[in-house]
Amino acid sequence: MIAEIHTITLAGIHAQTIQIQVQIAPGIASFNIVGLPDSAVKESRDRIRGAFHALGIALPAKRITVSLSPADIHKEGNHFDLPIAIGLLKVLKIVPHDHIPQSLFLGELGLDGSIRGIVGALPAAIHAKTKQFENLFLPQANGNEASWVEGVAVYPCNHLKELMHHLQNKIRLTTAQTPEVSAPTSPENQLDFSDVRGQEFAKRAAEIAAAGGHNMLMCGTPGSGKSMIAKRMVGIMPSLSSQEILDISMIHSIAGLLPDHGIIHQKPFREPHHTASAVALCGGGLKAKPGEMSLAHGGVLFLDELPEFPRQVLETLRQPLETGEITVSRANHHVTYPANFQFIAAMNPSPCGYLGHPSIPCTSTPKQIQNYRNKLSGPLLDRIDLHVDVAPVSIEDMQLPPAKENSATIKKRVDQAYALQTQRYKQASISKNSQLYGALLDQYCPLSADCITLMQKASEKYAMSARGYHRILRVARTIADLAGAQNIAKPHISEALMYRYIPYKPL
Ligand SMILES: Nc1ncnc2c1ncn2[C@@H]1O[C@H](COP(=O)(O)OP(=O)(O)OP(=O)(O)O)[C@@H](O)[C@H]1O
Ligand SMILES: [Mg+2]
Repeated sequence: MIAEIHTITLAGIHAQTIQIQVQIAPGIASFNIVGLPDSAVKESRDRIRGAFHALGIALPAKRITVSLSPADIHKEGNHFDLPIAIGLLKVLKIVPHDHIPQSLFLGELGLDGSIRGIVGALPAAIHAKTKQFENLFLPQANGNEASWVEGVAVYPCNHLKELMHHLQNKIRLTTAQTPEVSAPTSPENQLDFSDVRGQEFAKRAAEIAAAGGHNMLMCGTPGSGKSMIAKRMVGIMPSLSSQEILDISMIHSIAGLLPDHGIIHQKPFREPHHTASAVALCGGGLKAKPGEMSLAHGGVLFLDELPEFPRQVLETLRQPLETGEITVSRANHHVTYPANFQFIAAMNPSPCGYLGHPSIPCTSTPKQIQNYRNKLSGPLLDRIDLHVDVAPVSIEDMQLPPAKENSATIKKRVDQAYALQTQRYKQASISKNSQLYGALLDQYCPLSADCITLMQKASEKYAMSARGYHRILRVARTIADLAGAQNIAKPHISEALMYRYIPYKPL
């Protein structure tokens, strides 16, 4: 006899149904799992044996074969224990067949029969809904995240025995209830722009970046407030849509980083250190996991001390900055994760940090400064619309009263500018000004004659490239949106010109 049962495997953030067939046939005692299982799946055998032993169930001394299909997809993860165990219970006629055809099972087994938490329960629940599975049996630890998906009966369970009794109709497991979400708790969501004294220019740049979704590079002497501003960015960015909440939560579910209540409803802020490896940023590794760039999806990826990152790590940013996705190569296949983040970076003007400081002398040589800056490649800088010179804070600045404007006031303006963009780009494939390129720029950023004259003068004065020109247009469009203006005007371009790339300040 053959028992059939269903679970999932993950490809990027999406789940795919895996059918498991379990057969017990006469022959030499063996327990084989076929269908491209990875080592964690193969080890299921020993965990299942242990759990069955704890339940007082002996596996027959026969040939046990577990087949995972489709056979040509790599199966990764520790969640295969539970479905295989239920398949065995079914083929051994310990549990009846009803319930099982419309159900998905996921869970890792402990040797004592306990069911342990897994990653990817949220994508599994979404998959269960789209593929019309009625029930989802998963570990207690994953109940909250799966409960956010409506239309599927989610049964969190603690122990294999409990689930067995439920399937035998001896007890009734209760379905998961959607938990209450408490107020924002992450530190970045509690930081406020009113803490930043002075720095009006940099704060304005942050507002423009938030409103148009522009990437931003801040350059300034140590202790001028660059990290402070970056950490406050998520507090002024437009709120997440429900689709974004789902996507972000799915990525965190796969990384095993969801909070207790099981959903992420605030913009993520990720700040990997410059010693982080390319794998930590991109994802992948031995067990395919989303990296920092994907964990920042929908929020901010902040790279502090940008030139300190190894160049090959910085180059990995290019694909996600262009496509909003990152593809990770695995042994025999590729995995693609979403990585549509807003890129915010900070750096000092020179290796010693003090180039341009009014009182502290710079001790770096021109050669050192050149090498430091050369670490940032042209193509990377091209993807950054706003280049902001952050001035040193003076003691007078620090003695100013706290800024009157707080993050909530700035966010209101950002929200209004963002609403104008969504309205304008309804028919286009984009949603914000930072995504304007090529023909879309011509269509959405028409310039009047005096604006064209100003741009021509600026391009001659600053030796502006075509890319630089487009960058100014995109930023000017956002500045116009913040002002509620229909068309780009001269003051918007003049302001946008202040955020152009300043390649090398003279000593
Ligand atoms: N504009 C400011 N308003 C209020 N406090 C400030 C300001 N700038 C700096 N500080 C104080 O200095 C500390 C360091 O600031 P921050 O870490 O943002 O500097 P930074 O520009 O990132 O420096 P570094 O180049 O060394 O990384 C802050 O924690 C804060 O206490
Ligand atoms: Mg800093």
